[in-house]
Amino acid sequence: MPFVGTFRVCEPGGFPLQEAIAEAVALPSVLATMVRSMIEAWPDDVYTQPLVTTRFLGRRTTYVCDPRHIRSLMVDQADALEREPFMLRALAPALGSGILTADGSHWRVQRRTAAPMFRPDRVRSFVPAMAQAAHATRTRWLSGDPSVVVRDILPEMMRTTFDVIVATMVSGDSQLKVEPFGRAIDAYLGQTSWKIALSMLNAPAWTPHPGARAGAAAALYLRGEVARTIARRRARGELGTDLLGLLLQAEDPETGHCLSSDSLVDNLLTFVAAGHETTALALTWTLRMLAEHPEIERRVLEEIGSLSSDLVSDPSAIDQLAYTRQVLLEVMRLYPPAPLIVRRTTTDLRLGDRTVRAGESVHVPVYALHRHHLLWEQPDAFNPDRFSPALTAARDRYAYLPFGAGPRVCIGMSLALTECLVILAKLLPAFRFIPAEAKMPSAQFRVTLRPKGGMPMKIVPRHVG
Ligand code: HEM
Repeated sequence: MPFVGTFRVCEPGGFPLQEAIAEAVALPSVLATMVRSMIEAWPDDVYTQPLVTTRFLGRRTTYVCDPRHIRSLMVDQADALEREPFMLRALAPALGSGILTADGSHWRVQRRTAAPMFRPDRVRSFVPAMAQAAHATRTRWLSGDPSVVVRDILPEMMRTTFDVIVATMVSGDSQLKVEPFGRAIDAYLGQTSWKIALSMLNAPAWTPHPGARAGAAAALYLRGEVARTIARRRARGELGTDLLGLLLQAEDPETGHCLSSDSLVDNLLTFVAAGHETTALALTWTLRMLAEHPEIERRVLEEIGSLSSDLVSDPSAIDQLAYTRQVLLEVMRLYPPAPLIVRRTTTDLRLGDRTVRAGESVHVPVYALHRHHLLWEQPDAFNPDRFSPALTAARDRYAYLPFGAGPRVCIGMSLALTECLVILAKLLPAFRFIPAEAKMPSAQFRVTLRPKGGMPMKIVPRHVG
């Protein structure tokens, strides 16, 4: 089977020597594709088949694209899974062994500690901070240099969502600065594809690669900033009731010990990074998709305009934004901010009639699942009506996974959805967003799904004053 730049689908009974030669020949092109964007290295079958197994350098990976198998994997057999080593190699230098990267009891303690921050009543109490962050963005755009009308929307949204995270998770510690933080995250994520590719080649962790030095410096900077934030809080004397306060008061029920200093940094950095980057991407892709579909934007504006009360004084009014929510869900179907969920098996497990052996990789290619030909009619078309209550109820819940599933489901899901709705409700009636370039940016895998080359858009006030 010819393959250039993609993983080869495993064929039972293949001739090992022939396969090894074919792999060696294809290696440079597979690696180049992976570094460009890992999604492009997936075989086409992940868009049309329920289960696809590939072999690359002797390593088997099963791509799971059938909702029934996904449920079986991520819910029923979740205990047979652990973090995928290549993802750890990409993320652990910055995030250590925090809630996103840890397994077992270490993970459980961290998850339990953070959970109270994400209860529905707490999330609703964050609405004023979300509206405030959107207002600051609005003021920045209105008071900026009037000759600058084209801006890259991605860093703009990063700044807005960063403000929300700082306000809600560390009680607005104003010394945590968004621009250098954002630049460090860009530098860090920019080189993760090399780390993933080299890990798949079994190259040692110290292997030099483009961006390695900048990535290491970025990790150091991010961890240092977070450690200083923690030190400021300790110096204040009062620990507080925000996420940082909860982390500082957490106790491991098995040992009775508090979280170590490293563990505090791991977690706070995970929440700040995971909590704003993905949400900013969802908003960025949404603003662009609405600009492409003026009739859908009109419906969204009508819905926002007919809100019966202001979201700040009555956060429950958010429930009235049902169509806007459908739009957001449809955008995250086509552009899932977290496009790939990866695990390694710790014991043999069954998926339908297949056995996946202990130590193999199992991937849920969310980006492909959301465009799968067996699951979605006209999978590439943008149609928010897919998320109407009736169609949603008729669909398998595991066909749509922007926030993952099972015990490791995104802890910030309802916070993220609420935040996107509040920010859209505040910014869309105030500005028109016009793409600066006609061509939709391609989606590039950088652990998250980023628009290649950014998302330049003209931001035009709808009414002055
Ligand atoms: C649109 C925005 C977001 C998307 C698409 C998203 C997506 C995801 C996904 C897919 C996972 C599961 C990863 C896996 O199973 O390997 C995850 C986990 C996680 N997310 Fe989110 N996320 C978003 C927003 C947030 C926010 C706002 C926060 C926190 C403030 C957050 C914190 C986390 C954490 C801590 C985990 C790890 C949970 C665990 O392993 O127990 N995320 N997210």
